Amino acid sequence: MDWGMKNRISRIIKPETGRAVMLAVDHGYFLGPTTGLEEPRKIIAELLPYADSLMLTRGILRTSVDPKSSIPIVLRVSGGNSIIGDDLSNEAITVSVKDAIRLNVSAVALSIYVGGKYEHQTLKNLATLISECEEYGIPVLAVTAVGKDMARDAKYLSLSCRIAAELGAHMVKTYYCEDFQKVVKSCPVPVVIAGGKKIPEKEALELAYNAVREGAAGVDMGRNIFQSPNPVAMIKAVRSIVHENVRPEKAYKSLKL
Ligand code: R5P
Repeated sequence: MDWGMKNRISRIIKPETGRAVMLAVDHGYFLGPTTGLEEPRKIIAELLPYADSLMLTRGILRTSVDPKSSIPIVLRVSGGNSIIGDDLSNEAITVSVKDAIRLNVSAVALSIYVGGKYEHQTLKNLATLISECEEYGIPVLAVTAVGKDMARDAKYLSLSCRIAAELGAHMVKTYYCEDFQKVVKSCPVPVVIAGGKKIPEKEALELAYNAVREGAAGVDMGRNIFQSPNPVAMIKAVRSIVHENVRPEKAYKSLKL
C-alpha cells in the first residue's frame, strides 16, 4: 500500500485508537430530504467538531460544508435510484474519480447488494472503482447494503464483507448482528458499522459498544445521531464509546435525557 493510501486511511481510522467515528449524512441520495437532514448545512455544522470524518454526497459537500473545513471527506459515489423507484440495487457509479480528487476526498464509498437483483452490476461497480482509485491512492469503503428480503445475520453479512474485501475494498461498512465477531474475523480489512434506523438512544449506544468490543474499527452512523433529540450529546456519547471504550450505561447518562 502506498504512502498516500495509508495517509488517507489514517485520516479516517485514527491511529491513536485504531478506530473511527464517521458521521453519515449521505441518506438524501435515495431518500431525499431525510428527517433530521432537511437543512444539511445546519446539522453538519453542529456535529462536525465531534466527527472524525463526514460521509456524504458531492451535492451536499459542495453546498453545505465550508471548504475551509479540515474534516476528512468520505464521498458517496454510487446511487442512481430512489426509495420509490423500481429496485434500490440498480446502482451506478455517480462521481468520477477525477471529481473526487478535485473535491480533495480522503476516501470514496460505494454500495454493493450481494444477493440483490443487480448484485453483479454493483460488484462490478466496486471492482471498477477500486481499480481506478488504486491509481491515485484513494481508499474505497464498500457499503454492504441489505435488500429488503435479506436477513441481516452473520452468515449473510460475512459473505458480503468478505466479497467486498476480496475485490479489494480498503474498508467495509456493514450492520451489527449476532455473532458479529465472525463477520470481523473473516474480513481482512477494517469493518465499521452503520447505525440503521432510529432506535432508542440506549440501544444505539449498546450497539456501538458491542460492535467495537467485538472488533469493529468504529461506526459510520447517521440517523441514530442526527435524529436524536440532542444530536450533539449523542455524537459525543458515541465518540466516548468508540475512542475511550466508555461503557454504554455511562455514555447514556451523559445524554441527560
Ligand atoms: C445508506 O443509506 C447510507 O450509506 C448511510 O450512510 C448508512 O446507512 C449509515 O447511516 P445510518 O446509521 O443512518 O444507517
